[in-house]
Amino acid sequence: MASIFYIFVSLIVLIYFWLRKRNNYWNEKGFLQPGTKGSFMGVTKGKTPFQGLDDYYKSFKGKVKAIGIYQFFVPSVFPIDPDLIKHILMKDFSHFHDRGMYHNKEADPTSAHLLSLDGQDWRDRRTKMSPIFTSGKMKMMFENVDRISDKLAEVLQKNIETSNVHDMKRWSQKFTADNIGNVAFGLECNCIEDEHSVFMKYGRRLLDLKPFEIIKFIFAMNLPYLARVLKVRSNPKDAGDFFLNTFMQTFEYRQTNNIVRNDFVSLLLGLKHLYTPLELAAEAFLVFAAGYETSSTLMTFTLYELALNQDIQDKLREEITTRIEENDGKLTYELLFELKYLDMVINESLRKYPPIPILFRKCVKDYKIPGTDLTIPKGIKALINVYSLHHDPEYFTDPSKFDPERFSDENSKTIKPFTFLPFGEGQRNCIGMRFGQMQSKMAILKLIKNFKFSPCEKTLIPMEFETFAPFITPKEGMWLKVEER
Ligand code: HEM
Repeated sequence: MASIFYIFVSLIVLIYFWLRKRNNYWNEKGFLQPGTKGSFMGVTKGKTPFQGLDDYYKSFKGKVKAIGIYQFFVPSVFPIDPDLIKHILMKDFSHFHDRGMYHNKEADPTSAHLLSLDGQDWRDRRTKMSPIFTSGKMKMMFENVDRISDKLAEVLQKNIETSNVHDMKRWSQKFTADNIGNVAFGLECNCIEDEHSVFMKYGRRLLDLKPFEIIKFIFAMNLPYLARVLKVRSNPKDAGDFFLNTFMQTFEYRQTNNIVRNDFVSLLLGLKHLYTPLELAAEAFLVFAAGYETSSTLMTFTLYELALNQDIQDKLREEITTRIEENDGKLTYELLFELKYLDMVINESLRKYPPIPILFRKCVKDYKIPGTDLTIPKGIKALINVYSLHHDPEYFTDPSKFDPERFSDENSKTIKPFTFLPFGEGQRNCIGMRFGQMQSKMAILKLIKNFKFSPCEKTLIPMEFETFAPFITPKEGMWLKVEER
């Protein structure tokens, strides 16, 4: 009994000294760090990680180029200066080409994809996948996106006959799940008509993690080597298996019946001489995971701001109707991308509410920060808080104001490089940007053309965010009043 007691006390003492040493990690390396007891990025104060980081940003901006922080005792570096961010994302990419995300090809096949792969594996995959995302390939999928966004307007129309107050976050998710399920898995997913459809169920399952799954995820992201040994799964097993099996079935069906369509499935099948079916399934899964919530988030916050700013909503509607009329009533891929005001509105929404508010890279060899004596050690992750840059009054005057004019041709020239990063930057930026823009713009266009959006009693003003969501997420949905025009 006494020996168990001594082991227990020794363990406590060891942990105490380890934590003390850990909390001093950055001080010893010469970096400033917020507080003396480590830093939990605001989570303990009920804030989201990007809001917690924003507090540090405001305290340290102008004093240093980067500070040291701790993600639950794991040291990370937080670059503040846009010039340093440019070095990390682009100029000195050879030091920062990885994200250091957990993936395990054997135990969790859907985790090994472009977003998580490292080094040469990532480089080879990115080179082979890039031709799938060209403007020409996106144009091939335009008709499908057009059809599904018409369906969104049609079904919403029927629903407003019963009630004109709707959670537009849920409608946006139904649209992107239908759309991406269709192009990445080749199926009519029926999410818009039936919110209990399997694609909606598993799409939401990827985000609505149970507390134990959140802990597992944080553990795997911070201690990937140990997680690999323990064969941890980073995605819920039921959702991972669903997407994997669905892709495999479509893959076999298309092969056997020689079917080629204008979608991601056929483009991925074009790579079957280079990758195994499981590797291709992981990429189809990523297209869904990366494109579903990002684009629906963009749609959700755009509708919110348009509801709060009726003059901007009217101006946008005017552009849409006039330009389509001038084009003989036809909406084409080219016209969608020529609508300047729509583009300005979307960019302003991405600025105020970047769907992925924090970017990260892993330092793969010691990196001396230019113009300082500080060195980021190999193995440390750099967290770039896009939210802070987008809300810094030095870069965007009166940042809480929704003002699409910031992105007019003339004004956008004055935006400081590396302060507007909704799709990331450099060699590892978002490969699906064009598709994300196409589907979000198309849906917003159809919704604004057919409906008027305004705030209702349930609309959250000012906006509040969910604390533990991986994307920027409104608390309790996005309730708006929807009326036919
Ligand atoms: C509005 C919609 C979207 C937003 C805001 C968005 C944003 C981002 C961001 C911020 C990154 C990280 C970039 C970096 O670290 O520098 C990223 C990476 C990525 N995105 Fe997107 N994304 C969107 C839509 C999509 C779609 C529709 C797809 C797929 C069809 C996609 C596929 C990817 C992939 C594969 C990566 C990883 C690229 C790599 O590491 O090489 N994204 N996205």
